[in-house]
Amino acid sequence: MKFIPYGKQTIDKNDIDIVIQTLKSDFLTTGLKVNEFEQKIYKKTNAKYCVSVANGTAALHLSAITLLNKNDKVLTTPNSFLATSNAILYANAIPIFVDICSDGSIDLDICEEYLKNDSSIKAIFAVSFSGKILDQEKLKYLKYKYNIKILEDNAHTMGVKLTHSDISIFSFHPVKHITTAEGGAIVTNDEELYKKIKSFRNHGQDDKHNMTMLGFNYRLSDINCALGISQISRLDEFIIKRQFIAKKYNKAFDNHDIIKPLYPYTNCSYYHLFVIRIDFSKINFTKEQLIDKLRKNNIGVQVHYKAINQQEYYKSIGYGNEQTPIMNQYVEQCISLPIYPLLKNEEQDYVINTLKGILND
Ligand SMILES: Cc1ncc(COP(=O)(O)O)c(C=O)c1O
Repeated sequence: MKFIPYGKQTIDKNDIDIVIQTLKSDFLTTGLKVNEFEQKIYKKTNAKYCVSVANGTAALHLSAITLLNKNDKVLTTPNSFLATSNAILYANAIPIFVDICSDGSIDLDICEEYLKNDSSIKAIFAVSFSGKILDQEKLKYLKYKYNIKILEDNAHTMGVKLTHSDISIFSFHPVKHITTAEGGAIVTNDEELYKKIKSFRNHGQDDKHNMTMLGFNYRLSDINCALGISQISRLDEFIIKRQFIAKKYNKAFDNHDIIKPLYPYTNCSYYHLFVIRIDFSKINFTKEQLIDKLRKNNIGVQVHYKAINQQEYYKSIGYGNEQTPIMNQYVEQCISLPIYPLLKNEEQDYVINTLKGILND
């Protein structure tokens, strides 16, 4: 079996054609493809505004400096890619790492405990981990009851509707639901936020090219946007394919003694990742050894994620002693299996059988 990665892009002829057409056009950047892609994103997400940017990290950066002030406290999750909380640091604000629920997402009940006891908390940066849509009602309740800002990092949930949160961001890295190679987007219903983010993307200039604040060049090119336009037309199909794969994994591990899917199958998940928990107390090798055995069998499993607050840099600035028992247990057990639209049936069978075989040895 040739190497099976945990995630990869799905590129077809339409994608290639539209990129070539754009390369032959007059505008490689700041042209019509950018507006067209942004329009498709805000329509898809029921939002009023969209700003495309160079990558998901840039989307988080611009959102953070727009929503936050220096020294604002922000509740966030240890179970994410580094960029989620790094963005809080870019804004000179203070991340507070909250424990997760059993489904891998931030525990919003614990967030409420923090909010009750500390009125200086200004925002929550939450992640729809693995593709499972965050509890929108609870986010809305927290936003209005405690008068805080909510940013949803929807890098794992491309296309999810914006309801009450201030900002939702997406990433178009190749392992995500749709790709522009590198790319990201911010959606919001707030015109002021939109204008400010748009200006930050372009050196802090307004529409008349007056520079009113210190900004960046975080623009996404027309070449990337052209690919995005083609990809977004197949987003629903990609999500359905991922859900189909997830269903099959769930069935394969039903009542398994050692392997448990992170949560039961739900179509409220877009399944960017398919995470399983392994009960290592029942086997005589470690997580690292299991990963190594799978990779030797050409199965590219991954770990999502090592706790951000336990990263060397975060420890060097005072983090690492948070009370996060659920996250700690999760980190010991979690492994992400291959999931992407082009994963073939027989490849998935191979992953399932190889994993079960290793665990039964
Ligand atoms: C949850 C989450 N947030 C943010 C990012 C950053 O996106 P990008 O790689 O496009 O900068 C990622 C990408 O891996 C992610 O998974």
